[in-house]
Amino acid sequence: MPYMEAVIHEIQRFSDILPMNLPRIAMKDIHFRGYVIPKGTYIYPLLSSVHYDPEQHSNPQEFDPGRFLDSQGCFKKVEAFMPFSAGKRMCIGGGLARMELFLFFTTILQAFTLHSPVPPSQISLAPASVGVGKVPPKYQLSVSQRQH
Ligand code: HEM
Repeated sequence: MPYMEAVIHEIQRFSDILPMNLPRIAMKDIHFRGYVIPKGTYIYPLLSSVHYDPEQHSNPQEFDPGRFLDSQGCFKKVEAFMPFSAGKRMCIGGGLARMELFLFFTTILQAFTLHSPVPPSQISLAPASVGVGKVPPKYQLSVSQRQH
């Protein structure tokens, strides 16, 4: 189900729910690309700068699952996608979370049709608040059983 995978990936890129990742701290002095990061420095590897990098994603402010599909409609891996961060300390629950997102979304969409009571163009996509996490605003949704 490549389109479903692409939609879920785009939801994770676009919603960017941990824009500043989780804070980490340097355990010792680190020499990195000519800079010294002293022991004890808090480090926030900004995931937003990856998910909204216009050099990596054309029109990053637009919701476009197509950026995760190739010309044949097959799912395309995109390097600048790291909602679970990267490296040694990346999210240990990433595999479980991805499986849950896929199963929950597909199960809901196979059984129900979802409608917005207002035209989609009137829905604000701006988060209700942004701190360590981006909190989505409240939405109303109408759910009806799907006719097969
Ligand atoms: C959509 C859901 C999730 C997102 C977006 C997410 C994202 C993240 C991120 C960005 C980090 C920081 C990694 C770093 O500092 O490099 C993290 C760490 C972590 N996550 Fe998740 N996570 C999710 C779900 C889960 C789940 C379901 C679990 C457990 C079952 C989990 C367990 C953890 C743990 C234990 C860490 C700390 C890992 C460490 O310090 O080595 N996460 N997560």
